Formats: sequence, structure tokens, C-alpha cells
Amino acid sequence: MRVLVTGGCGFIGSNFIRHLFRTRGDSVSVVNLDKLTYAANPANLADVDRRGNYRFLKGDIADPAAVAAAMDGCTHVVNFAAETHVDRSLLGDASFIETDVRGVFVLLEEAKRRGVVQFIQISTDEVYGTIAEGSFTEASALNPRNPYAASKAGGDRLAFSYWASYGMPVVVTRASNNYGPYQYPEKLIPLFVTNAIDDQPLPLYGDGRNVRDWLFVEDHAAAIDFLLEAGQPGETYNVAGGNEAENILITRQVLSALGKPESLIRFVDDRPGHDRRYSLDASKLARLGWSPRTPIEAGLRQTVDWYRAHESWWRPIKEKDGAYREFYRTQYEQRLATSSTSAKEPG
Ligand code: NAD
Ligand code: TYD
Repeated sequence: MRVLVTGGCGFIGSNFIRHLFRTRGDSVSVVNLDKLTYAANPANLADVDRRGNYRFLKGDIADPAAVAAAMDGCTHVVNFAAETHVDRSLLGDASFIETDVRGVFVLLEEAKRRGVVQFIQISTDEVYGTIAEGSFTEASALNPRNPYAASKAGGDRLAFSYWASYGMPVVVTRASNNYGPYQYPEKLIPLFVTNAIDDQPLPLYGDGRNVRDWLFVEDHAAAIDFLLEAGQPGETYNVAGGNEAENILITRQVLSALGKPESLIRFVDDRPGHDRRYSLDASKLARLGWSPRTPIEAGLRQTVDWYRAHESWWRPIKEKDGAYREFYRTQYEQRLATSSTSAKEPG
């Protein structure tokens, strides 16, 4: 098995590649194609870099020549590469369309030309939009409500269309919110853990009662590994964490794990169009033979410990990276200036 992993220097991709080598050893070889955007860190894979069965290529999934070179000899493709942060998509960044839609098209065309054994498109639960009660199944209608979710929905259905139109063996996965080691400190959990370590405010959007279902990244990696063989062509699989919680609860758990006071919580103006609740029915994947293993308490403890032990990984981003600091200012300066210690109106 020779797997092209795209976006392998990011959060989930790097955890997935490490997982593959741990479980499959020398029976797998991996080509990692990554553009090295702000979200990437080649150091995420320092421990596998010297393996003879690992190869890194810097390149863009929207560049046909880079994709042709990377896919050469590959039997499987797992496409993690994407622009991934909702708040950045709300700033009107065209790279969401370029990578999450056009990049998927370029990968699919090359995979069709070569006749790969399997193409896994990593989609997201956000393509379904928000749900007040119950859970989305794979048959639920898509209703993406922010530019990130909409671009991912484009890639998701484009991938499926290569199965429906050409019989290409495509599998689509829709995972819930991931957390764990190596997550860039812009998403809720790594941002709040690292802010809390430094006694900085934790900017909770709106009333803090939006619900997400938290999936430990190691579980997600295991699910994708499982689907490399078990995934049925043309099928879509929800990958849930089974840990639904309001953001305020996660925030309190982070503070408690670090022994920090709840007075660090600041309620700030809500994210525009903020989806209230995500919830997945993952029974299809369970019937196939896979379920998540990590309860949120254990996963959060591991995550907090990792960020405490790896300050050399995140401090350069938060303290020295001008682009990160500029993003943080744009996103939070005004919000924090008008923040409150009690809940704000949901957006
Ligand atoms: P991330 O932002 O940490 O990493 C993305 C990686 O993709 C980076 O290494 C980046 O350099 C690379 N990349 C971006 N544009 C590229 C391009 N044009 N060509 C090649 N590489 C490019 O993302 P993540 O959180 O690891 O998410 C990985 C995938 O999982 C994404 O497709 C995302 O939509 C999906 N997903 C994420 C979550 C989550 O909670 N993080 C949940 C469900 C699904
Ligand atoms: P995020 O980690 O950005 O993931 P997603 O938008 O893909 O769900 O956000 C998770 C939840 O946390 C979401 O409800 C928005 C909220 N949130 C905050 O309250 N404050 C923040 O600073 C961030 C980044 C997110």
C-alpha cells in the first residue's frame, strides 16, 4: 500500500501519518504533499522524517504538475489538505475555494487518470449545518452555513460525483470537531489551553452554549486507517467523537485541568452565523466495525499535558509569528475590549 496523504504537515494529517507507521510499520509507504501554509509545521513529523518509506513533497493540491508527481505509484489517496478555520473563511479568504474545491478537483482528475484503488475525501460535519435536536445521518441534506463549510461541501460532493459519474472508488468521511496534540492555536481547545497557561483571557463567543461533538485526533486517525480497507466505494461515513458538550463546559474543563480560575473567561461578540449545534449519528461506521475509544476527560487531559510539555512548539507561533499576531488582533482585539463576564446574545 502506497498512500498519498495531502496536508500531512497539519494537525490531523500529521497524527494520521504517525498512526499509519505505528500500526502498519514497513508494510505501508507514505508520500506527504503539503503546501506548508501558516497551519503547517514540518516539525510535526520530525520523528518519521528519516524513514525510508516516507517522502515529503512541498506542493499545492491545486497544481496539476505537483499532484501528478506526488501521486506517481500511489494506490491510495487521503485528502486532508484544506483551509480549515471558519473565522478565517469569514474574513473573505479566496484560498478556501482554491484549495477546498479546486484542489479537490485536481486531485480527483489525477486519481481518475491513474485508476487508484481508493480515494478518501476528508470532509466535515459542518457540511450538514446546525441541528437543534437529534443527529444527522449520512442521508441528511447538506446545509453548510459559513464559507468554510460551503467550500468543504463543494469538495465533498465533487468527490462523490467521481464515483457516481466514473465509478471511481471514492469514500467520503465527515468527522466532528477534532482536538489533541499538534493543533494550531487558533481553534477553540488549543487557543484556550495556551491562553490559560499564560493567564490570558479566554474569548468565548456569544453565550458559550454552542454544542460541538469532540473527537480525539488519535481516534480520527484510527477511523481513517480502518476505512482504508473497510470503506465501501461510493459511501459516506460520519465519524463522531460521542462527546457532545457546550463550549462553556469544555472551557471549564480546560481551566480545571490547568488549575486556572474561571475569571479568565470573557464572553465576546458572537461569530456571525454561528452554528448552534453539531451532532452526528455514527451508527453506519459502528455497524462496519469502528467506534471511538477516548472519552473527553481522558483526551483533554492528554491534550493539556501535551501543550504544557511542548511550549517550544506553540510559543514561537503565538509570540514570534507576525501573521498569527495580526490574525489574533483582527479577530479578538475589539471583541475583548467590549467583552463581558456574563453571557452575550447568541449571534
Ligand atoms: P490544518 O489546518 O491543521 O492543516 C491543513 C494542512 O493542509 C496544512 O498542513 C496545510 O499546509 C495544508 N494545505 C492547505 N492548503 C493546501 C494546498 N493547497 N495544498 C497542499 N496542502 C495544503 O487542518 P486539520 O485540522 O488537520 O484538518 C485536516 C482536514 O480535516 C481538513 O480537510 C478539514 O476540513 C478536515 N476536518 C477537520 C476537523 C477539525 O476539527 N480540525 C474536523 C472535521 C474535518
Ligand atoms: P472552532 O475550534 O473554531 O471549530 P468549529 O468552528 O469548526 O466548530 O470552534 C469550536 C467552537 O468554539 C465553536 O462553537 C466556536 C467556539 N469558539 C469560541 O467560543 N471562541 C473562540 O475563540 C474560538 C476559536 C471558537
